[in-house]
Amino acid sequence: MALLRVCGSSIFAFIIWSLIKRLCAPKSPLAHIRGPQKEHWLKGNYHRIFQDGLRYNLDLVQQYGGALTVYALLGQKQLYISDPLALHHIIVKEQHVYEETDMFIMGNRLIFGEGLIATLGEQHRKQRKMLNPVFSLANMRDLLPVIQPIADQLRTILNAKIPADGSVVEVNLLPWLSRGALEYICQAALGHSFDTLDPTKENEYIEAIRTLAPTTLRLIFLRPFIPMIVRRFSLYWRNKMMDWMPSDALKNLRHVVNVMDTASKKIFAEKRAALENEGFIGIAGNRMQGKDIMSIMLRANASSSNDDRLTDSELLGQMNTIIFAGFETTTSAICRILWILAERQDVQARLRSAIRKAKQDYADAQGLSSPWEDVELPYDTLMGLPYLDAIVRETLRVYPPTSLLSRTARQASVLPLHQPIRSASGEMISSVHVPENTTLIISILASNHNKEIWGEDASKWRPERWLSPSGERLHLGDVESNSTTSASLGVKNGIKYPGVYGLMMTFLGGGRACIGFKFAEMEIKQVLTTLLPRIHFALPASTDRNGHVKEIYWKMNGLQVPVVRPPAGDNVTAQVPLDLRKVCEHDFVAN
Ligand code: HEM
Ligand SMILES: *[C@@H]1O[C@H](CO)[C@@H](O)[C@H](O)[C@H]1NC(C)=O
Ligand SMILES: *[C@@H]1O[C@H](CO)[C@@H](O)[C@H](O)[C@H]1NC(C)=O
Ligand SMILES: *[C@@H]1O[C@H](CO)[C@@H](O)[C@H](O)[C@H]1NC(C)=O
Ligand SMILES: *[C@@H]1O[C@H](CO)[C@@H](O)[C@H](O)[C@H]1NC(C)=O
Repeated sequence: MALLRVCGSSIFAFIIWSLIKRLCAPKSPLAHIRGPQKEHWLKGNYHRIFQDGLRYNLDLVQQYGGALTVYALLGQKQLYISDPLALHHIIVKEQHVYEETDMFIMGNRLIFGEGLIATLGEQHRKQRKMLNPVFSLANMRDLLPVIQPIADQLRTILNAKIPADGSVVEVNLLPWLSRGALEYICQAALGHSFDTLDPTKENEYIEAIRTLAPTTLRLIFLRPFIPMIVRRFSLYWRNKMMDWMPSDALKNLRHVVNVMDTASKKIFAEKRAALENEGFIGIAGNRMQGKDIMSIMLRANASSSNDDRLTDSELLGQMNTIIFAGFETTTSAICRILWILAERQDVQARLRSAIRKAKQDYADAQGLSSPWEDVELPYDTLMGLPYLDAIVRETLRVYPPTSLLSRTARQASVLPLHQPIRSASGEMISSVHVPENTTLIISILASNHNKEIWGEDASKWRPERWLSPSGERLHLGDVESNSTTSASLGVKNGIKYPGVYGLMMTFLGGGRACIGFKFAEMEIKQVLTTLLPRIHFALPASTDRNGHVKEIYWKMNGLQVPVVRPPAGDNVTAQVPLDLRKVCEHDFVAN
């Protein structure tokens, strides 16, 4: 107990010390950058930005422009950036200056080990070099048919709940899509099935990963202390502190980390043994046949030059990292699309018809006799479907699953702005001096809603903006955007966002862009083209005892969280209840 008090009071002392340091600090060089007033002595503006903050974030940028200051925890001033040129500097040109924060890197290292999201600089670059080829187009093409059974299983499970007589059943899709996404990522990353979609088979590893995000979210207010604790205390004392801290969430987190660690070591050992025994084929009877990320990584390690090799702990770290990074985000994206399709019956019918046409055409061309609903489209056909692509892009643009990221300036620097901002003294300025150690928030959300690029209706969900008038796909900016289309999108002087996906920041860009974005895109499209031919989605229509209908509302808490609004729901529990029924002929549009 004595130590508990020591711990508690050292954190308290740290808070006081930070406050005093801030009060005594000379006038901040960021003082002339405008931004909202501090709204809480401890939370600053963070509670507004990170809790149900969609409107708040967009209003900030509307009022102050592409660079502004906000108050973080303990009144610290941070920069909030959505200007395209400034972002180009942060994530591409000067990415060595604007690194992930200590808090993020050290926190991740404690939880996941030495994976991609826990390393910086040269070590990170080396890991990316080895992992990038794993997500190549060629590997995605190979993977697609191998992971189709997961989408089929998801459809079978949902179908089994739907009445045969054509009536409607309400199903909360979130747990099923989340299990599906986890199964996808486990099979693709590890070539290992945990039977995630079979709820009778609980698995400790899967449970651990599923509780990780909610647990760390409960501990979010401890995160600022991680760098200090890691620097000043050894692993032994950190473990002791965990024992003494009166926090269930913290104990739970330690349990989760231990389970992940043990399970991933076991899988890793199996993989390596299989690789050595079976000549690089993978575990016998495994559907992936060595095409999974782990096998590819082990092979790459075996063949690359000494300098490029990763240590065991780095390879192990990738496994936990990739699974964690790959499942919540994709689940959120698929749920959001199905919810939109449920709301927009016209869009759902048009998309279903487009899928039917594509599958029928492919079946005809190949001479297939299976029902069109079960036809599996090859990678390039699936990725090339214009309307499906427009819907996926537009959803990921307007509602990016990860909306806000943070970086810290390792040295003083200057950020040029594409669009000048008005300073506190009223003059227009076109660059911002960033002091050393400033934390910056990258607003993916505000970038994707930039009216200069997307027009006045930037915040409106309108998939047609990705299509030509005759319904063909506009190839916008994936590599180099076409001058005619970019002009029509209002990109001036060749300025555009440095994102890897369209003109969007959804998957970031530069050396730390999302490594799995092609995988995510493929998974989303495969799930949609598998479910929609047989299942019709609608908003929940039944009323509860008091006559209230469930209304789904998405909170933007950094991540997107769907809840049911009061009075029919509790406004807190994440869920996506939709009405499901069998598809019938009037669920299509005439072609
Ligand atoms: C719709 C789904 C997804 C979205 C919106 C998304 C978004 C992002 C974003 C914004 C980052 C940058 C984070 C930062 O720099 O702080 C990122 C990084 C990352 N993502 Fe994704 N992601 C998605 C799916 C996936 C999938 C399916 C995988 C794995 C197969 C994956 C693996 C990763 C990894 C490993 C990183 C860290 C990269 C690095 O630091 O080098 N993501 N993702
Ligand atoms: C990678 O290769 C090195 C050198 O052959 C080896 O020592 C190391 O154990 C390998 N790592 C893994 C995870 O196989
Ligand atoms: C920035 O942070 C580093 C490490 O935390 C510290 O050594 C350095 O003194 C800080 N610089 C300034 C100007 O506060
Ligand atoms: C630009 O787009 C137009 C219309 O989609 C297309 O006809 C043209 O070939 C494209 N030009 C280039 C250079 O890609
Ligand atoms: C639901 O929660 C949000 C915060 O997440 C709050 O602002 C809102 O007022 C709540 N709505 C109701 C009806 O309780």
